[in-house]
Parts: sequence; C-alpha cells; structure tokens
Amino acid sequence: MTYKITALPGDGIGPEILEGSIEILEALAKKFEFEYDLVTKDFGGIAIDKHGEPLPPETLEACQNSDAILLGAVGGPKWTNPKNRPEHGLLGIRKSLKLFANIRPTIVTEATAHLSPLKESLVKDTDFIIVRELTGGLYFGEPKYFNENQAVDTLTYTTEEITRIAHIAFKLALKRKNVVTSVDKENVLSSSKLWRQTLEQVSKEYPDVTLNHLLVDACSMHLITNPKQFDVIVTENLFGDILSDEASVIPGSLGLSPSASFGESGPSLYEPIHGSAPDIAGQNKANPSGMLLSLAMCIRESLHQPECAQHLENIVFNTINEGIATKDLGGSYSTSEVFEAIKKSI
Ligand code: NAD
Ligand code: IPM
Ligand code: MN
Repeated sequence: MTYKITALPGDGIGPEILEGSIEILEALAKKFEFEYDLVTKDFGGIAIDKHGEPLPPETLEACQNSDAILLGAVGGPKWTNPKNRPEHGLLGIRKSLKLFANIRPTIVTEATAHLSPLKESLVKDTDFIIVRELTGGLYFGEPKYFNENQAVDTLTYTTEEITRIAHIAFKLALKRKNVVTSVDKENVLSSSKLWRQTLEQVSKEYPDVTLNHLLVDACSMHLITNPKQFDVIVTENLFGDILSDEASVIPGSLGLSPSASFGESGPSLYEPIHGSAPDIAGQNKANPSGMLLSLAMCIRESLHQPECAQHLENIVFNTINEGIATKDLGGSYSTSEVFEAIKKSI
C-alpha cells in the first residue's frame, strides 16, 4: 500500500522545519522499506500571496485525497487583514476534514528533564496527553462578528460534540493509566455545565477509568506544580489551545510539542503545536523536534509503521540528550545541524 501525504509548509519557520523533516521521512522509508507519495501545496500566508486565499481549492482537494497531512505553521505580521488571514486556512482545513480530536502529548524523558524551567524532580516522568476538542466552541460558534461598537464570539457545544471527544479521551486512558481529567469552567459557563454532565454520562461506559474534574484556572496551576498527576486531560477548544502551550514548556520548549488531529474517518493531520515564530524565522534557529515528533505520530498512526515511529522518537530525544539542540533548549546548534545529526543517526 502506498500512502498519500500532503505537505503544507506554510509560513515563517514552517518551511524550515517541514522541508528537513521530509528528508528524514525519505531516509526512514528507505531504511524501513515502505513507500509513500508526497505532494506539497501552498497554504496560509504564502497561499494568500499567490492565490488570494489561505486554503485554495487545489490545496483542500489534495488534503481530502490524502491519508495524512503534514503541516508546518502559518501566520505572520505580513498578513493581518481580519477578513483574510492565514489562520483562517488552518481553521478551514480542520473544519472541512472534520478533525474534531486533537491529541497533544507532553512527555518528559531522561533527555529533557534537566531542560525544564521547573525543578527536575517535579517534572521527571511526566507523561500526559491533552485531548483538545478542535472543531467546536468559541472558534466556530455563530453568531461571530465585530463592528465598531460590538464584537461577538459564541461559545456553543452540543451533547453530540462533547460525547464523541469524551469517548476519544476514555479510550486513550484505557490504554494508559486509566485516569481522565476533564477541564471546564463549570462555575460560570453554561457550555461547561453541559460538558461536565456529558463527561459523567459517558464515563458510565468506562467503569475502569477514573474521571476527575478541574476548573481551567486551577488546572493551569496544577499543570506546573504537579504535572505528574495527569494521564489524559480532555477539554474544549480554547482551553486546550492555551493549556497545551503551557504544558509544552514542562519538558523545556514550545518547539518540542507535536500534535495529531483525527476525524471519524478520512485523512489525519500532523503539526507541531507552535506557530510560525516570526521572531526567529529565516534564521535557521527553529527547533525541529515538534515537527519531527509530529512526523513520528504520522508514521505510527497513518503509515502504520510503529517501529519506524519509535526509531524516530528515540533519535530525536537521543540527539537532544547528546547536547545537539537549538537555542530554545539552551543549545547552540542550528536547525540544519540538528537535521544533519538526526539523518546520520537513522
Ligand atoms: P509562536 O508559537 O509562533 O511563537 C511563540 C514563541 O515561541 C516565539 O518566541 C517563538 O520564537 C518560539 N517558538 C515557537 N516555535 C519554536 C520552535 N520550533 N523553535 C524555537 N522557538 C520556537 O506563537 P506567536 O508568536 O504567538 O504566533 C506567531 C504566528 O503563528 C501568529 O500568526 C499565530 O497566529 C501563528 N500560529 C500558527 C500556528 C499553526 O500554524 N499551527 C500555531 C500557533 C500560532
Ligand atoms: C494552534 C494555533 C491555532 C489555534 C491558531 C493559529 C488558529 O494556536 O494550533 O494551537 O488556535 O488552534
Ligand atoms: Mn495554539
């Protein structure tokens, strides 16, 4: 079986981290003897410049016809028109492909424990996953508008939307430590009341899994004071966005965190959780680890090569352990030097 991959480098550091990762994929496919077809498409700011829109029909069509999508990052100071932003392309692709489940793992390995801004003893052995609902909530609720006097975003969730993401979280917990922490703002928000009630309902189907609830403000504190307590965190779209950037620095840097987004069926999307990092774009400074670990998730889940995925993950962490790391991790290596070291280790 030859899997189809669409690559969307995007803007800023997006192309810097994705192009090198595609070379790594080529080398891994040779070693592990599998095949794939890869096409690269315009997406984000670069697509606005070339086609007038961030998600041109040709790009969306290629994604729809793929097994997997690898995405760098989009956005930047050049594209600030509120009616036509690169970020709209990202939201458009998630919505069009119905990618409602976004998986964002945080793992502190031997290689990264000393890189954390938190105490090593506090973060060592941290291993949790944030399951972020990705196609609902404030990002997509209607009405949504702004004019001179008023701006409106709508936070809405249906029982169906909450139920399907809850099942993803409970099923993941069954394969791990059997604990789900649902994060909401139940003391204030109606959508959170329905969220909590629905999580309780779904939990009845998973008697072996413990369900805890945390309010989002307290959760943000618990994440950095006792990250080891968590197994699977499930939360709505915006809370998941914010908490996952916070979680990413527990092992050392935003540049380390990967993600995978799944729908009920169809292609899955793999992207680091960080953005286009305009402040370091074009300087060969970006940490490619989040992209490479997203590639590993793609290799495991969409290309069905678990050994290859594990090999890549080991290499990424070993390389960091050897001190071959970018500046965000306290290292002095460039992006291309990290890619070179990783290629040699394959
Ligand atoms: P950002 O994630 O791009 O950067 C935040 C900080 O982290 C910056 O200092 C940056 O240099 C650093 N950083 C991020 N990734 C890094 C990496 N791989 N290696 C080293 N350092 C890294 O967030 P921002 O600055 O708030 O946003 C910039 C643009 O990116 C905005 O247009 C935003 O909308 C967009 N964005 C896109 C995505 C995406 O495409 N998935 C995600 C988040 C933000
Ligand atoms: C992310 C990003 C996006 C989000 C933006 C760029 C739309 O921050 O993938 O985490 O908010 O989902
Ligand atoms: Mn984000």
